[in-house]
Amino acid sequence: MGKWFPSIYDMAMRPLEKTKFKKIRKTLVNQATGRVLEVGSGTGVNFPHYQNATQVDAIEPNPLMKERALKRMVGTRIPIQIYQVKAEKLPFADNTFDSVVATLVFCTIPEPTKALQEIQRVSKPNAKILFFEHVRLDQAILGKTQDILTPLWKKTCDGCHLNRDTLELIKQSNLSVLKVDTYFNGIFLSIKCLNE
Ligand SMILES: C[S@@+](CC[C@H](N)C(=O)[O-])C[C@H]1O[C@@H](n2cnc3c(N)ncnc32)[C@H](O)[C@@H]1O
Repeated sequence: MGKWFPSIYDMAMRPLEKTKFKKIRKTLVNQATGRVLEVGSGTGVNFPHYQNATQVDAIEPNPLMKERALKRMVGTRIPIQIYQVKAEKLPFADNTFDSVVATLVFCTIPEPTKALQEIQRVSKPNAKILFFEHVRLDQAILGKTQDILTPLWKKTCDGCHLNRDTLELIKQSNLSVLKVDTYFNGIFLSIKCLNE
């Protein structure tokens, strides 16, 4: 994994975070209740938004991201623990979590279908599964442009697939999609699901 990506991530995201993302994250993360699993917590940008959770178990495989996230844990209202593991093999028992949060992470997970299966396994029945993701656009020219850019994008952005159709992958899993909110002409989606 690139060493430079974690060091510039927060700075590169700042314009988007300040304008729109902060509100989207807050709305999404506020819905997470009880014991929460956060998948690919990165630099911990969601940590300050947990208001209704009792405990957060965050997973993040990149040690440099985790190091930055530790600073964001200072002063949070609820206990947060970060595990340096991957979403495809979660170190938690079946039916553990009341809610799961995944933001801007399914674009990067090498085996997203396996990760979705693991999320379902460790979530309780009817647990809330909350995503905020960028996806491949359903428009011929723009979607094709995303396809063309993806190989270079993957190399420069730590494995991120610009053209991944995460909503379709979620629909193919056993999760029930309750609500989809679209942002920036549909390139970003907030997706609320239940583990039914
Ligand atoms: C674009 S960053 C998003 C970070 C954060 N969730 C956010 O909203 O800003 C993608 C994150 O996914 C993590 N990641 C990559 N592969 C992963 C995997 N197999 N399982 C879990 N997280 C992974 C990366 O280390 C990185 O922190």
